[in-house]
Amino acid sequence: MRDTCNYKLYFITNNVHKVEEVKLVAREYSICIEQAAAPKIEIQSNDLEPIAINAAIKAYSSLRKPVLVEDAGLFIESLNGFPGPYSSYVFKTIGIKGVIKLLNGIQDRRAYFKSVVVIIAPPAFIIEEGIVYGVIASQPRGNKGFGFDPIFIPEGLKHTFAELSIVEKNMYSHRAIAVRKAFTRLRDILKI
Ligand code: IMP
Repeated sequence: MRDTCNYKLYFITNNVHKVEEVKLVAREYSICIEQAAAPKIEIQSNDLEPIAINAAIKAYSSLRKPVLVEDAGLFIESLNGFPGPYSSYVFKTIGIKGVIKLLNGIQDRRAYFKSVVVIIAPPAFIIEEGIVYGVIASQPRGNKGFGFDPIFIPEGLKHTFAELSIVEKNMYSHRAIAVRKAFTRLRDILKI
């Protein structure tokens, strides 16, 4: 199906799952998303926001076209928010199994995903965030999605994110919340 779009944004990411999720939300706003490769290196910070802002400024400076950058992480309450902005590294190193091991014997399974979205589309410079609260499952379940989806159960549901379709995940996810807020503001600022 071809998208009819009023506006095109370059989504700077190497994650095709994120692209699929954001494309579906963008369609609600008649915005088209084109993926553009992200540099391998990003700045380190204890907060997602500076990471996303820095990446967006760099991407806009080189591309000179409207860009969208998104940075996300899983924050586990009993681990004082770990892995948070280090989620990508933790996923690559100890992975889902390692996280489940860290929580072995811990009753408090509460966690949340946070997403920070930055859009640079002059005159618009938009920063928005989205949070979804939930719990960490005792075992991974489901084969959809990516990253920590198989162990995250959003509040009010029995299924993990990895057991949901993209449309269903977008009804709850941190990313869909942040992106919807950002697209609403973009539409208002650019009158698209
Ligand atoms: P990134 O830096 O925004 O790419 O995200 C860092 C890491 O957080 C990813 O590698 C994933 O492991 C995890 N993550 C972020 N968003 C999600 C999500 O929607 N589902 C599952 N894992 C996620």
